[in-house]
This record gives sequence, structure tokens and C-alpha cells, in this order.
Amino acid sequence: MSKVNLSIVAVSILLVVGTWAQNPKKALKPPKPNKAQCCDEVRSLKVQVANLTSLLGELSRKQEADLMTVVRQIMDLDKQNRQQEARVTEAESKYSEINNRVEIMQLQTLQSAPQTTTSDAIYDCATLYSKNYKISGEYKLPKDEFLGTPELSVFCDMETNGGGWTLIQRRKVGLTIFSRDWKQYKSGFGSIRGDFWLGNDHIFRLTRQPSVLRIEMEDWEGETRYAEYGLFSVANELNSYKLLLANYRGNAGDSLRYHNNTNFSTFNKDNDKCVDNCAALRKGGYWYNCCTDSNLNGVFYRYGEHMKGTDGITWYGWHGPNYSLKKVEMKVRPVGFQP
Ligand SMILES: *[C@@H]1O[C@H](CO)[C@@H](O)[C@H](O)[C@H]1NC(C)=O
Ligand SMILES: *[C@@H]1O[C@H](CO)[C@@H](O)[C@H](O)[C@H]1NC(C)=O
Ligand SMILES: *[C@@H]1O[C@H](CO)[C@@H](O)[C@H](O)[C@H]1NC(C)=O
Ligand SMILES: *[C@@H]1O[C@H](CO)[C@@H](O)[C@H](O)[C@H]1NC(C)=O
Repeated sequence: MSKVNLSIVAVSILLVVGTWAQNPKKALKPPKPNKAQCCDEVRSLKVQVANLTSLLGELSRKQEADLMTVVRQIMDLDKQNRQQEARVTEAESKYSEINNRVEIMQLQTLQSAPQTTTSDAIYDCATLYSKNYKISGEYKLPKDEFLGTPELSVFCDMETNGGGWTLIQRRKVGLTIFSRDWKQYKSGFGSIRGDFWLGNDHIFRLTRQPSVLRIEMEDWEGETRYAEYGLFSVANELNSYKLLLANYRGNAGDSLRYHNNTNFSTFNKDNDKCVDNCAALRKGGYWYNCCTDSNLNGVFYRYGEHMKGTDGITWYGWHGPNYSLKKVEMKVRPVGFQP
């Protein structure tokens, strides 16, 4: 009996609680918000907004300051960089001055030494190398009646791949025009420390002995490649300085092969194998076929301009027909040269 009564009481209590929970407002009515309270809330919100706004302002000011700091740091770095570059340039010019003095001394010793027999003859940079001149630079090859060679200023590369190289061409400065006539290509033009063509007559003489040709190239990204021909010769003027090549090796591509067995052409002496005047079209003197797979005596185009023309200093096997190289050196030395 008592058990049943208890459960009834429990159920009714639950019911009462449930009813209260369903109507909390009736049981505990909150006070109606009055006008003053509302305005207080609004005011505090306004303060918060104001605080947040000022916080935001502070943050963006801080960001701006950070940005300025970064900009200033970059400018400082740039300045340091330029100072360093200036120092490098200065060092370079000092080095080349010293090098110049060494070369002058070399030339003086060379010229004071009498050349009596032909075995002593100084014929090219390889001979100089074998006489222990091992610094790259400008040398003067003496006149030799027996060999029939005139006095000639040459630039010797005594470092690359064992040294002993006589340069026959260089492109690097870009101020010398290479669109020249037959006569100028015959005797040579330009400056031996800068851009030049040594001259077809001189190249013919140098390559009467079996010679290697090495071509070194650099592009505007600073990458370098080379092409070497184990056999290279140029005929005399009577035979139009015809090119003969063999035994390619290198990583630039075999882009002189197409010019093998062709005569030399200039704009005023069109010996190419084409209806067009290739020398005029490609603005150089070269062994033009119809017309080019390389154009090392073409127009020097600066960075940014170097993809503009098809008459640039091109080597199709590396950068194709529309990319003018930044630097080229062509050099020869006798086959079988021993460093
Ligand atoms: C607003 O900032 C002031 C100080 O600048 C501070 O005293 C106040 O408590 C801040 N109020 C709020 C709502 O953050
Ligand atoms: C090259 O020139 C020579 C004369 O110097 C000429 O006899 C020869 O036919 C020419 N060769 C070509 C392929 O034009
Ligand atoms: C160039 O031509 C000659 C003969 O005319 C040939 O012996 C030589 O292999 C050729 N060179 C190349 C690189 O093809
Ligand atoms: C090189 O340029 C010429 C004309 O300017 C264009 O016709 C040719 O397609 C270009 N070649 C390459 C490989 O970009």
C-alpha cells in the first residue's frame, strides 16, 4: 500500500517540476529592460567598437611599420650588393692591369730574344706555350720570312683544356660591327682584347698545320657550351677561304657541319649556295650555305633584344635560329698539341 502511495507522490512531483520547466517565464519572469539599461548596453558596445577600431588601426600601423622595415632592409641589401659589385669590378681592373704589365714584360723578353733557326720560330700560341709562356693574354707573333708570316698581334688562351689556343674570333662587348666587306674579313678587324675577327689570311696560315677548332659560347642566362672540331682548315683566298671540318665533339650541337665545304661570303662577295645573299641577310661574313645553321659573325643583340632577329649570333644546335648569344670565342691549336 505505502509503496503505491509513494510512487503517486513521486509522479506528481515530477509533473509539477515538468510543468515549471516548460514555463520558466511564468515561474521566474525577468525584469523588463528599461531605457537606461538599453543605453548602457549600446554605450558599452560603442566603446568596444571604438576599442576594436583603435586596435585595428594600431595593427595596420604596425604592419605598415614592418613593411617599411622590410623595404629599408631590402634597400640596404641592394646598396651592399652594389658596393660589393663595385669592389669586384675594381679588383678585376687591378688584376687586368697587373696582367697587362706581365704581358708587356713577356713581349719584351720575346722580342729581345733573337730567332735564328726556324725551329725557334714563333708561329702561334701553341709555340709560345711550349716556350713556357703560360699566361693568357695578348702576344705579338714576330714576322718570319721563312714561314712567310707577318708580325701579328694575337690573343692566347693558355688555360682552357691545356692552353695553347690562338683566338681567331671573339664576341662579348657588342660595339664592333661584323657586317664588313671581303677586304676587311681578309685582313681582320676589331680589337684583340675585345671583339674581333683575326682575318681569313691569318686563319688560313694558322690552319696550314692540321688544327683543332674550339668554339666556346655563353648565353644570357650565364650557361656555357662548346663545340670542338678535331680537324679544321680554311683554304687560301684563291679558293675563297673554303671551310673544311671533321670530328665534332662537344655539348653545343654540331652546327658548323652544315657549313662544311662552303666558301666564305661577305655582302660584297656572295659565294653561298643560295639565291639570296646570305651575308647581307644575316649581316656577317661567314661560310654561308643556304643560309645558316650557325651565324657566329652575326649581329650582337643585348639581353632583352636577343630574341628579336634571325641575323643574331646564332648556334641552332643550342638555342635555335632566334637566340643571339652573349659571348663567343673561336680558337685554334695544332692537332697533337701536348700541354
Ligand atoms: C577600452 O579601452 C580602454 C582603455 O583604452 C579600457 O579601459 C576599457 O576597458 C576598454 N573597454 C572595453 C569594452 O574593452
Ligand atoms: C668556291 O670558290 C671556288 C673559287 O674560289 C670555286 O671554284 C668553287 O666552285 C666555289 N665552290 C662553291 C661550292 O661555290
Ligand atoms: C666535311 O667534308 C669532308 C669532305 O668533303 C668530310 O670528310 C668531313 O667528314 C665533313 N665534315 C663533317 C663534320 O661532316
Ligand atoms: C624565328 O623567328 C621567325 C620570324 O621572326 C619565325 O618565323 C620563326 O618561327 C621563329 N622560329 C623559332 C624556332 O622560334
